[in-house]
Amino acid sequence: MSVTAIIVAAGSGSRMGGELPKQFREIAGKAVLAHAVDALRSHSGVDSIRIVIAPGQEITAKAAMGDRDVGPFVTGGATRGESVANGLRGVADDELVLIHDAARPFCPPQVIDRLLAALEQAPAAIPALPVADTLAAGTDRIERMADRKGLVRVQTPQAFRVRELRAALAKSGGVELTDESSAMVAAGMGVVIVEGDPMLEKLTTQADFDRAEALQGAALVSRTGMGFDVHAFSGEGPIMMGGIAIPHERGLAGHSDADVVLHAITDAILGAIAEGDIGQHFPPSDPQWKGASSDRFLAHAAQLARNGGGKIDHVDCTVICEVPKVGPYREAMRNRVAEILDLPVPKVSIKATTTERLGFAGRGEGIAAQAIATIRMPQ
Ligand code: CTP
Ligand code: MG
Repeated sequence: MSVTAIIVAAGSGSRMGGELPKQFREIAGKAVLAHAVDALRSHSGVDSIRIVIAPGQEITAKAAMGDRDVGPFVTGGATRGESVANGLRGVADDELVLIHDAARPFCPPQVIDRLLAALEQAPAAIPALPVADTLAAGTDRIERMADRKGLVRVQTPQAFRVRELRAALAKSGGVELTDESSAMVAAGMGVVIVEGDPMLEKLTTQADFDRAEALQGAALVSRTGMGFDVHAFSGEGPIMMGGIAIPHERGLAGHSDADVVLHAITDAILGAIAEGDIGQHFPPSDPQWKGASSDRFLAHAAQLARNGGGKIDHVDCTVICEVPKVGPYREAMRNRVAEILDLPVPKVSIKATTTERLGFAGRGEGIAAQAIATIRMPQ
């Protein structure tokens, strides 16, 4: 039976506050929604995915998705229930659905295994965890103690046979429910409880976010990559270096704009994420890169790193040449590289050296650059 995952991401995140709704904010360099999508999509039991977003959030949601192909977004409603109803529209009755909050970005595959297995016996299954704290009723003062025995905390994704879920939702007749299992229970249909996971806690407040960021940060490992590039002097200047045009009587030969600094840093980043080299991504034999501005190469490498959950910590580049003098342009180069990488300037270092007139650089035949990039990546 085909399984569709519906991820609801149409909320405003009012308890979290801030400009950007929580599902579009980043944790470990990746949007919360992208984490949720990747977690569900990477499970072999999930056949398709539908993302429900609020009207007017298409551009933000697209940016959060990067280059993932997720199909058209579904427009959500004023309540979570309406958003789910919109997501369900058009899903066939004989299918299975997983309904999931984007605000629960880290779904372990084992939870999906348990849910789908449970659907073989029942029309609905939900993940839940036991309650660890003592429970009491009251606001300023305890009115009575509640018995936590037999109580569980219900998470998402929640799994349903579509026909039964539709019937239950129709019966609930627009009563505002906090989840879909409530509708099934109200309709007298069986809901199986499977073991949930602490990683599925919902992000509601800033404190939840800080904790998730710390947890993800601890799970990252630091990786380094190196890059090296050389271009020969040829023709007339200026020279492109670090994305800046430096006036010089001679230019540099190259298929693109021959920017040794950007090429070396691009290769360093590709090295850190083990994604080949610049020539593989932008073959010199391909006419579309003739005269290309190298900031595109660098931005692409940075995007690849981020798509993989990478966080660029630092890049350092050494330019090796006798002329032109790099010093006067160093700050402009740092600023430009930082801008292309979308990093703060202190995370970018540009240095220069001569080779005491030794070798090809010393003889003034060309310019070399070497770079190193440090990137924290998921293990
Ligand atoms: N949601 C939705 N449509 C709505 C309301 C909520 O799709 N009209 C989604 C949220 O984006 C979230 C999930 O439902 O992924 C759970 O809701 P919640 O955690 O309450 O998120 P928000 O409603 O955005 O947050 P808040 O209640 O603090 O405003
Ligand atoms: Mg809400």
